[in-house]
Amino acid sequence: MTTMATLASRSEIAAAAALLSAGGVVAFPTETVYGLGAEVSSPSAVKRIFEIKGRPFDHPLIVHIADSSKLQYWAEEVPEQAWLLAERFWPGPLTLILPRSRHIPENITGGQDTVGLRVPNHPVALALLNALSPEGALGAPSANRFGHVSPTTAAHVREELGDSVDMILEGGACEVGLESTIVGFEAQNSRKDPSRAIILRPGGIPLAALAEALNGNIAVAEKQNRTPRVPGALASHYAPATPLELWHGEYLPRRSLELELKGLNLGIVTWSDQFSAQLNHWRSSNVTRLSMPPEPEGYGRLLYATLRRLDNERLDCLLVEMPPDEPEWLAVVDRLRRASCNNIWIDVPKNFKDEAVHG
Ligand code: TXA
Ligand code: MG
Repeated sequence: MTTMATLASRSEIAAAAALLSAGGVVAFPTETVYGLGAEVSSPSAVKRIFEIKGRPFDHPLIVHIADSSKLQYWAEEVPEQAWLLAERFWPGPLTLILPRSRHIPENITGGQDTVGLRVPNHPVALALLNALSPEGALGAPSANRFGHVSPTTAAHVREELGDSVDMILEGGACEVGLESTIVGFEAQNSRKDPSRAIILRPGGIPLAALAEALNGNIAVAEKQNRTPRVPGALASHYAPATPLELWHGEYLPRRSLELELKGLNLGIVTWSDQFSAQLNHWRSSNVTRLSMPPEPEGYGRLLYATLRRLDNERLDCLLVEMPPDEPEWLAVVDRLRRASCNNIWIDVPKNFKDEAVHG
C-alpha cells in the first residue's frame, strides 16, 4: 500500500526526543510495525507502556538502539553469530536476544537476564534514536493493545491508542508490515560452535537469508520450546476482533456456503486464483472478498491493514485462504495461525527443515 503521508519533520522528531527524555511515551514508525517507545532509563514511562497496552509486566520489551556500535554496552556477551547477523541485517527487521548488561533495567526484561535488541530501518526511527542522549535507547513494543493486530500506519495508532500517548510520529505505511524476526542463541557444548542461533519468532527477515548468513547453523524453535515470555508466541495473538478461520483453498467454498446459509456476513481473504467458479456468487451475496498479493512480502505488508479494515466492517466471520506451505511464507502463516480461532496447525515446512537447517 503506498501512502502520501509526509514523514515527521525534524522539529517534530526533536520534540519527541525531548518528551522521551522527560519521561514521556511516544509512538514512532519502524519498517516493521509502529512501536510505542519509552526511554529505558525512565521507570515511570516504561510502566505507562505496559498500562497503555494492557500488557502483563513480565512480558519483556524490545530495546531499540541507533546502531550496533554500542551493542556491548547493552549486552553482557555478544556471540560471534550475533555480530555476524547484526552486521548483515541491521538496520533491519531483526531482534537479537542476548544476555543483558547492567544498563538494562529489570522492568524492561520482565525480570529475565536476557534482552531483545534491534536497530530499526526507518528514517524517522533512526533520527529519533540519534536525537536521544548518547546512552539513550527506547524500550518499545508494538503500539497496539495486548493481543491485538499491530499497527502499520500512524492512523492505526491514533485509532487504537488515541490520547493515551504523548505524541505519535508520522512515518507512512510500514514497508515490511510484520514484526521483526527474533533470534536467540543456545549454548552448545562444542568449543567450535559455542552457541547456536534459534528463531524464536519468524518475521521480516526470511529464514533462507538467516540460514545463508550463518552457513545453515540456525534452527526454528519447536513450538513447545518457545518461551512463554514471548507474547507473540502465545497461541492467540495478533488477532482481529472478528472471528477468523483459516482454510486450505479447497475447503473454503464449502465453508463459506455453510456460513452464508446461516445468514452470516462473511469476509473472505484469498491469494490464489482458484476461485473463479465462486466469484460471481460471492459478488452477488453478503460476502466481502479481498484478494491478497500471491507472494509473501506483498502479503505481509498488507496483512494487518487488511485485518483492521475487515474488522471495521463488522462482519460475523473472516475466512482466510491458507498460504502455501513454503518457507518464505512462514512469518505470514505464523501470524494467520495465531489470529485464527480454528487452529489449523501447520509446521515448519519440511523441505526447509531437511535442506536448509543443519544441526
Ligand atoms: O518489529 C518489532 O519487533 C516491533 C517493532 C516496534 O520493533 N516490536 C514488537 O514488539 O513486535 P512486541 O513487544 O510487540 O513483541 C516483542 C517480542 C515479544 O514477543 C517479547 O516477548 C519478545 O519480543 N522479547 C523481548 N525480549 C525478550 C527476551 N529477553 N527473551 C525472549 N523474548 C523477548
Ligand atoms: Mg506486539
